[in-house]
Order: sequence, then C-alpha cells, then structure tokens
Amino acid sequence: MEKDIYILGIESSCDDTSAAVIKNGILLSNVTASQAVHEAYGGVVPELASRAHQQNIVPVVDQALKRAGIEREDLTAIAFTRGPGLMGSLHVGVSFAKGLALSLGIPMIDVNHLQGHILAHFIKENETDNDQPEFPFLCLLVSGGNSQIVLVKSYKDMEVLGQTIDDAAGEAIDKCSKVMGLGYPGGPIIDRLARQGNPEAYTFSKPNLPGYDYSFSGLKTSFLYSLRDWLKEDPDFIEHHKEDLAASLEKTIVDILMKKLRLAAKDYKIRQVAVAGGVSANNGLRNAFHLYAQKYGWKIFIPKFSFTTDNAAMIAITGYYKYLEKEFCPIEAPAFSRVTV
Ligand code: KG4
Repeated sequence: MEKDIYILGIESSCDDTSAAVIKNGILLSNVTASQAVHEAYGGVVPELASRAHQQNIVPVVDQALKRAGIEREDLTAIAFTRGPGLMGSLHVGVSFAKGLALSLGIPMIDVNHLQGHILAHFIKENETDNDQPEFPFLCLLVSGGNSQIVLVKSYKDMEVLGQTIDDAAGEAIDKCSKVMGLGYPGGPIIDRLARQGNPEAYTFSKPNLPGYDYSFSGLKTSFLYSLRDWLKEDPDFIEHHKEDLAASLEKTIVDILMKKLRLAAKDYKIRQVAVAGGVSANNGLRNAFHLYAQKYGWKIFIPKFSFTTDNAAMIAITGYYKYLEKEFCPIEAPAFSRVTV
C-alpha cells in the first residue's frame, strides 16, 4: 500500500499567520491568525507584523495539526511561503519551517506566494470536489500587492501576460478608502458600501495602456482630486455620498480589470478563466465574472472566500504538487521579498 502523503503548509508573507495540512491532495485543516494590531495605523506595519507572526506561529501550527488529527511525526514534508512578501514576516515562517523540517528529518518545499494564490483553485476539501480548471487557463491575480493576468499552462509553468505598472488594484481601493476616512483594509468596506450605491453616479479616469498591463495610479489621483473639489462645495460630501462613491470606484476598478482580461481571453482563445487573490472576494468583481461567463461562454473559477485572502491551504496544495515532482529546496534557501510568478 502507498504511504499517505501529509504536507504541512506555512504562510507568513504579510499579516496573516496560517498553517494547513493536506493529506494526499485533500485539505484536512487550515488555520489562520489575522493581526488586528495594524488597524490603528491604516496599513500593515512590517515590524509589528513580524512580532505578531512570532507569537502566532507555534499555536497556529499546533492547531492545524490537531484539527487534522495528526502528530508532527506523521508529516511527509513542509511547504512554506518563500516570497514575495515582507522580509521580516517571511523570515518567521521560513525559519520555523527550517527548524521543524530539520528536527523531523523531512524535506522542505519552497512555494511562491503568487503561484499559491493561483493554485488555490486546486484545493480539494473532499474526494468528490472535482471542479478544478483545466490547463491552460487564464487567472486574474488581484491582491493588495499584485494585479496580473497569468496564463497558467501547468502547475509550474505560468506566464505573466500583463501586470500593473504602478499600484495594485487592492492597493488603489485601500488608498481611496483611506482618503474617504474609512477603516483598514478598505477593500471589504468599499465592497459593503458599494452594494447600496449607484455605480454610475461618478466617473473616474481609466488608463489607456497598450497590451495587457494595468495602471491604477491615475484613477487614485482622479479620485483624490474629484473628492477635493466636491468637499469644497460640501464639507460633508463623503458622508452624504459614500455609497455612490464606493460603487463608482468599485465599478471603475472592475471595468479596468475585466477589459484587459477579456482581451487576453480573446487573443489567446481561452475560455477557462479564474480569479485569485484578496480582491477576488469583491462582489462587484465576482458579478462581472458571472456576467462575462454568460456573455462570452467562459467557464469561470472563483475561489471560496476563505481561499481568497492569504492562507496556508494554497501553500500546502502547491507544496503537494511540487512534492509529487520531488521538487525540494535546500535548507539554506533564503526568503525573497520580490518576485513574480
Ligand atoms: O491577497 P491579499 O489578502 O493580500 C496580499 O496583498 O497579499 O489581498 C489583500 C487585498 C487588500 O487590498 C484588501 O483591501 C483587498 O485584498 N480585499 C478586497 C476585498 N477583500 C479584501 N477588495 C475588494 N473587495 C473585497 N471584498
């Protein structure tokens, strides 16, 4: 009988400490500790993030093993996020993975965080969960740090067709939300407000870039300047119109994202289209995916909410596929803060 393969995934690239266990490709547990400490600062404070990871990593891994019903000694290999991300945050997960792998004498598998987001579509929660994309497919990867259109040819062969030349979509939403004096992170707040607003109420500038690249800095400036003018007329403008502002901002961002995605799908003649990353939790973007599926015959793949933001399940499943290929990494492998898929 084949031996069961148990992969422990560890994710600590930004402000979520997460651990997950996958057995033979099926998810057994996925535990995440988020860090509320950053809310007061309106953004992630790297030093505070590393400290919180230090406090969280042991109990989070412990919980993941307990919920999976296994002991450390049952593990076959440890997959960890090597980058990109915040260096101090990454170090916590990378060092922990190294220590545990050394003590257990098992292999380590380094995972690119962005590939992890894309392969989140292959997380299976049970044997009958077979709704995964077929290769090749397109994936719109949209998070706080990235906005990319990726052609996914296999588990490990991915080509970035286009990406943002300045801000990421999530970053733009978060910054506009900050300008409106809303909380952090702005994405979920804008999403909630947008559902009660009119998306056609205001128009903001859209980029005019060739190819599949994105740009969101012009939109951010246009939002800021428009708001400044409206506030001169009515100091309570934001309070009076926050739903319409959120809906219009969200629509502009979704339109920008979908236009290039549609262009890539058309040019590459691909009908399987997925979305991944924190911004894929957005309802406006999800609705647009459903609309495009109807209009252009796309088969779409939208992750469960729990697999949109940073999580270790996506690291463990990527690790599982790398394990099958015996793609291990040496113990001296350092974290890397910058890299694309
Ligand atoms: O992938 P992620 O958790 O972290 C990284 O950037 O790696 O993405 C976080 C981003 C933030 O900008 C956050 O505001 C955005 O995802 N976000 C959303 C929603 N939920 C999270 N943006 C729009 N609508 C949402 N519901």
